[in-house]
Amino acid sequence: MLVVRLQGKVALVTGAARGIGNAISKLYVREGAKIVLNYNKSEREAIALAEEMGEISKSILLVKADVSKIDEVRQMVQKTIERFHQIDILVNNAGILVPEVFLESTEDTWDKTMDINLKGAYLCTKEVAPIMLKQEKGKIINISSICGLSEKSALRNTAYVVSKTGMLGLTRSLAVNLGPKINVNAICPGLTDTEMAAALGPERIKAGIEESLLKRIGKPEDIANAALFLASDESDFITGEFLTISGGRAMR
Ligand SMILES: NC(=O)c1ccc[n+]([C@@H]2O[C@H](COP(=O)([O-])OP(=O)(O)OC[C@H]3O[C@@H](n4cnc5c(N)ncnc54)[C@H](OP(=O)(O)O)[C@@H]3O)[C@@H](O)[C@H]2O)c1
Repeated sequence: MLVVRLQGKVALVTGAARGIGNAISKLYVREGAKIVLNYNKSEREAIALAEEMGEISKSILLVKADVSKIDEVRQMVQKTIERFHQIDILVNNAGILVPEVFLESTEDTWDKTMDINLKGAYLCTKEVAPIMLKQEKGKIINISSICGLSEKSALRNTAYVVSKTGMLGLTRSLAVNLGPKINVNAICPGLTDTEMAAALGPERIKAGIEESLLKRIGKPEDIANAALFLASDESDFITGEFLTISGGRAMR
């Protein structure tokens, strides 16, 4: 018998057009979810993804919104409710990485990184949590990074590291504030094969693979499988946790 783990659920995935968000969205739809695909700049990719999914499910809503802007986030959540009347799963995945070490870093990078990576997750959760609380159930998954933990070689890009460490604090605070109705967990991916990782350059990728125990880069699907578990009823007794997926690179 085919088991679909997200039947009847509505999921909002930020930054869904590309990379990890794309893989999570595809898997959620395959598992029976209705899905809100959020994008900001990648409209073409978002439409292509929706068309690809259209064969599997008609239950797709595409919403352009910059997660760092409260008005756009509010409209996105309103559109979701108008269309699907509920939100069961929120994946705070949208993020940027500007490869800048501390002494070469700029205030602009700091502000943009905090606004998108950290404030974006805060704003989306602020709008979605009251809906989940009314429903008396919900799953929130924050995509942090192993650089939010203390993996030394992953700590170079200061603003990014601080934003991803902040996301772990946000995860714990939300788990405390939103329990017992809502589960809030973080995933900490290691190097994962997306445009973001490619921007780090071949040397950093090679070093990341060497540091891992499984001697490969992660696939977006590796992260999506964990995001499925944390969205499903199978993780009902898990909250405030950080799930590291790095091929052993961040083992401690
Ligand atoms: N790849 C890795 O090695 C790795 C490792 C650890 C953690 N992560 C985390 O995983 C998440 C996904 O990253 P990825 O690797 O899939 O990177 P990616 O391929 O560069 O995708 C980033 C996504 O974030 C979205 N985004 C950026 N700014 C946004 C904004 N203001 N509003 C809405 N969406 C926005 C982008 O959407 P648009 O293109 O539409 O703007 C895009 O879909 C990020 O939070 C990243 O920090 C990645």
